[in-house]
Formats: sequence, structure tokens, C-alpha cells
Amino acid sequence: MDIELLRETFQRAKNENGGLRSLGLSFYARLFAKYPAVRPLFTTPTEQQHKKLMASVGAIVAAVENPEALVPYLHAMGIRHLAYKTDNAHYPAVGENLVAVLGEHLSKEGAWTEDMKRTWQSALEFVSNVMIEAANDPAKYKTELAKAGYKADGFSKHGAEPWTMVAPAAVVATG
Ligand code: HEM
Repeated sequence: MDIELLRETFQRAKNENGGLRSLGLSFYARLFAKYPAVRPLFTTPTEQQHKKLMASVGAIVAAVENPEALVPYLHAMGIRHLAYKTDNAHYPAVGENLVAVLGEHLSKEGAWTEDMKRTWQSALEFVSNVMIEAANDPAKYKTELAKAGYKADGFSKHGAEPWTMVAPAAVVATG
């Protein structure tokens, strides 16, 4: 995975074609059109949900070189998704959908290359695998989650929005 390319393309996604709002709304429009089976799982209005997803993708991109913050964040998120009744089999669809809408988004004003596509595919594969490993065995990650400020169910101990990442420095300080 090319970290520079990941960062660069995410920065472009913010600046181009209506920015993250347009990308986030396109994500859900395409997801529900192409994978209607997952539609009933989403109860939060898309207008709010897309902001959480984009904040989460932004946090992941920012922490991609900080596994000590990123991994517990993803484990907690994988465990929270159990409460949303998601299935491991849904992950490839969500990954495919994000890469496809990002490609459509960036193609409007500039390049979308095979390298960019591969970078995002491997990033999402990594994210999905780490989320799934925790969802498959939540009890195993209890201590790790507690150190990083999450409850056993993956929600924040401090009542914070769980999709915003605790700064790596804070993780080290409380760990
Ligand atoms: C790339 C992997 C994924 C990321 C980064 C991601 C991100 C998020 C975020 C940030 C939230 C907001 C709530 C929270 O943080 O707990 C959320 C909620 C949710 N996600 Fe995901 N997600 C991913 C995969 C999936 C998959 C595979 C599904 C299956 C369909 C899914 C379905 C949902 C549902 C149903 C909710 C709750 C929506 C609601 O409140 O109505 N997510 N996701």
C-alpha cells in the first residue's frame, strides 16, 4: 500500500467535486442501490451517517502509520458493528463500494489510476480484516480496548463519538 498516494488521494477527495459531503452521500446512494439487502441495517439518516463514515476514513488515513492508535480504533469499530447487525460477508461490498465511488469522485476533476485503486483496495482490505478479527472474538480484545479508552462493546468509555480517534499521544499517556 502506497501511504503517500493514499493521503494524496484523500486530500483530493476533500478538495474536488463537492468534497467529502458529495463523496459520502454518493457512497450511501450507491451502496443502497447496488446492495439493497443492507439498507434495513441503517437507521441513522444518511445526512448524519455520511459524516461519521467520512470522519472515520479521515481518522484512518491520518493514523495509517500509527498502529498503536489505529489497531485498537479498528478493533473497537469492528466490535461496535456487531451491535449494528452487520455480517462479515458485507465487508467486501462496503470496500468495493467505497473504492468505486472514490473513483467516480476523483475522475470528475482529475486522474484515477490503477495504482490509486490498488492502494485503496489494500487499505480497505486491511481495515476490514482488523475489524473482523475483533468482531470474531471480542473478549480477546477487552484489555486492549480498555487501555485505548473503549468499553468492551467498542463504544467510548468517555461518551465521546467513537468514530473520532483518540490522539496517539493520549493513547500512550493513558496506556
Ligand atoms: C471499511 C469498513 C467500515 C468502516 C470504516 C465503517 C464505518 C462506520 C462508522 C464510522 C459508523 C458510525 C458509528 C460508529 O462509529 O460506531 C458506522 C456505522 C454503521 N455501519 Fe459501518 N463501517 C464499515 C463497514 C461496515 C459494513 C461492512 C457494514 C455492513 C453493511 C456496515 C454497516 C454499518 C451500520 C448498519 C452502521 C450503523 C448505522 C446507523 O446508525 O444507522 N459498516 N460504520
